[in-house]
Amino acid sequence: MPGSTGSGASSPGRFSSGSECGEVNTPFTERSVLFDDIDLDLVQKSINALYILVVGGCGFIGSHTVWELAKAGYNVIIIDNLSNAFSSVFDRIESMVSDYYEKTPERRPSLKLYEADYRDRQAMTAILEEYEIPAPFVLSPAESDLRKGSNITGVIHFAAHKAVGESIKQPLKYYANNVGGMIDFCTLLGEFGIKNFVFSSSATVYGTVADIGIPLREEYCSQQTTDFVDDDGERKLVHSGSSGLTNPYGRTKWMCEAILSDLAYADPEWTVTALRYFNPIGCDESGLLGEDPRDTATNLMPVVLRVITGALPVLSIYGNDYDTPDGTAVRDYIHVTDLAKGHLAALKSRADRGFRVYNLGSGRGSSVLEVVDAMEQVCGRKIPTQVVGRREGDVGMCVAKARRAEEELGWRTEKSLEACCRDIWRFLERAGEALVTL
Ligand code: UD1
Repeated sequence: MPGSTGSGASSPGRFSSGSECGEVNTPFTERSVLFDDIDLDLVQKSINALYILVVGGCGFIGSHTVWELAKAGYNVIIIDNLSNAFSSVFDRIESMVSDYYEKTPERRPSLKLYEADYRDRQAMTAILEEYEIPAPFVLSPAESDLRKGSNITGVIHFAAHKAVGESIKQPLKYYANNVGGMIDFCTLLGEFGIKNFVFSSSATVYGTVADIGIPLREEYCSQQTTDFVDDDGERKLVHSGSSGLTNPYGRTKWMCEAILSDLAYADPEWTVTALRYFNPIGCDESGLLGEDPRDTATNLMPVVLRVITGALPVLSIYGNDYDTPDGTAVRDYIHVTDLAKGHLAALKSRADRGFRVYNLGSGRGSSVLEVVDAMEQVCGRKIPTQVVGRREGDVGMCVAKARRAEEELGWRTEKSLEACCRDIWRFLERAGEALVTL
């Protein structure tokens, strides 16, 4: 049985009805029942305690998303096996949330952390049972199929392995955790009637299609055969599938999207939003939350930071012979706070049931050299670099067309590359590393 930690007052909101001895609709049926038939305390507890479940919530993107959820008033349950994160991240968020709500009259949401592997069915079942809607809602044996309801109103799934190089060396680890784990997890969620799911996908699903040199539309990698009018005004037909996936990690993300699309088609109660992240960098502007993985850094910005702090002598630039303005690879870097807010927008979008994919990117590309330059401007020192060969599995360009998320979710990025660098620098200064090692 997994243990939980957490604090925060439970919601003080009161259960209310239209009239003193009136009727109330139960959450799972359109039918009305008399108050006499049900335990009002249990009803009140249930209605006051709605949660978002965040799996992998102590990681880089997860922790920033939990922080944004808490500021927006959501109660949050985090499940994390701490394989690539630290529990101190949770303590940090708790303290940030307490400080934040001390200054407002609003209710402080509840945060809970369970240290568990999302693939551990027994542990996950025990956790989900804690949030099950209680039995008084069962009206008759005939309705026993409606028995499982939950105070968890949405799930955000971050618990995936994400190192491209490692996925090439250990594909089964990636397929087992990212694909097998998600199938079992969704099966269990379905048993508990939890069917509002936000999935962390990745721009990597575009594979070598990304190299076409123009911003990527969601339709360029579609899970359903569809036609659309492209930006040049031409009607195009796309078949479901993907072309030129360059590594097992990318394949796991594509497979998960395909599985979720099939699930939402088969069972229309599911609302699944797949968010294709481009390149998240930066950290909360307070400098209190940042990227602190246990694994060896492989992404560009964490490696740059290690060079700045002296932990690494030089930044290896993987190729300067790409078909890009300066020859180094171009990516769409997105501030992690913008990305986190994209998840809130996705959770609110559940009016449209079914499966829907969104790019979360800025629509602007920056080369490796531009990122290095922006970081040098902020920290006021030279970052040593050396050009080495291309990295296996890399593409030359990967930039989002961000229009769909703006039109349908009302979300777009607000922060620049410079803001990302400034916030990271603040995090380093706060951590004291900059002072110690520079
Ligand atoms: C890739 C995936 C992305 C995924 C991420 C997870 C693609 C197109 N993108 O991001 O979807 O979420 O992995 O880890 O597959 N670079 C260097 N030196 C370094 C590190 C990186 O030059 O030490 C370069 C890379 O070659 C790349 C850019 O910096 O051009 C960004 O690299 P990285 O941060 O690792 O992200 P992607 O490979 O773009």
